[in-house]
Amino acid sequence: MSSITTQEISILRPDDWHLHLRDGAMLHTVLPDTAVRFGRAIVMPNLKPPVSSAAMAQAYRERILAALPKGSVFTPLMTLYLTEATPIEAIRAAKESGIVHAVKYYPAGATTNSENGVRDLKKVYPVLAAMEHWDLPLLLHGEVTDPVVDVFDREAVFIERHLIALRRDFPALRMVLEHVTTSAAVDFVQSAGARTAATITAHHLLLNRNAMFQGGIRPHHYCLPILKRERHREALVQAAISGNPQFFLGTDSAPHPQNAKESACGCAGIYTAHAAIELYAEVFAKANALDRLEAFASRHGPAFYGLPCNTDSITLRHESWCVPEKIGMGAEMIVPLRAGEEISWRLVGVG
Ligand code: NCD
Ligand code: ZN
Repeated sequence: MSSITTQEISILRPDDWHLHLRDGAMLHTVLPDTAVRFGRAIVMPNLKPPVSSAAMAQAYRERILAALPKGSVFTPLMTLYLTEATPIEAIRAAKESGIVHAVKYYPAGATTNSENGVRDLKKVYPVLAAMEHWDLPLLLHGEVTDPVVDVFDREAVFIERHLIALRRDFPALRMVLEHVTTSAAVDFVQSAGARTAATITAHHLLLNRNAMFQGGIRPHHYCLPILKRERHREALVQAAISGNPQFFLGTDSAPHPQNAKESACGCAGIYTAHAAIELYAEVFAKANALDRLEAFASRHGPAFYGLPCNTDSITLRHESWCVPEKIGMGAEMIVPLRAGEEISWRLVGVG
């Protein structure tokens, strides 16, 4: 069990169930931030080209392991990128590889590197049936891309148009509605039974949509699904602290170079890996629910994925520190969440 005082909390080492590690120089820059905090992470497959076979996942996994700081025992949990051309045999190969833990659905055009995603869900129904058979979870970027749907309604409309049918048509399939942002998503997950889960990001727990327009346009608060109204943020906090095992930690930390964010057409994604568990601790402390942090961060995810919990622990102290303005990446920079501002919890120990 976690040990908690008002000043310090020790919890079983957490895992990140939704993470973008990228590749190349970016991978080398961001991986240590995650590896020092988390035992494992579900690694998103939206590279260019997408990670769409067990062999590609294996090769990507090797590159991640090679980029780990010396002595790190961090374990990447790989995913496949679902396309309309994914062969049914790829599912069995993925399951048998032992290193692929889920398959990711992106609606084509919904977000960063999603152009190879799915246009018509019916086209992948045979693959979803194979995933149900082999018990390989489906991770959903749950937004519609229909241009007539308001950007703030895309998650709720996805639930109505697609998710209700998916849940009905594949009753045994384990599904994770990733990075939920609305009370509609929370309500759906709560009513959908134990084979449906959701990840919640730190930024959606901390910020509402005003954060994108504070005194001007704030590209570093732009992510997808987009930040929502305060009442949705409050519903997410209630779900995260509820103790319901269907909700667990997934940062969706999604680094982009500064110039790709601060642009006439800036890309979506918020970098939080530099302080991920500290940011969640802030949310839980503010809600007087630090005693629930370990369940959300370290227990519910492994239970859903059928994996053991980590056995070591981390310690956080209630002590402010200032986030650097920028994180260097060769000639480029990443601007992290809270850049130049304070975070009220600090990672002080691991092991
Ligand atoms: C992610 C990215 O940059 O890869 N961006 C984001 O805003 N979350 C993609 C995604 O998860 O939607
Ligand atoms: Zn993501």
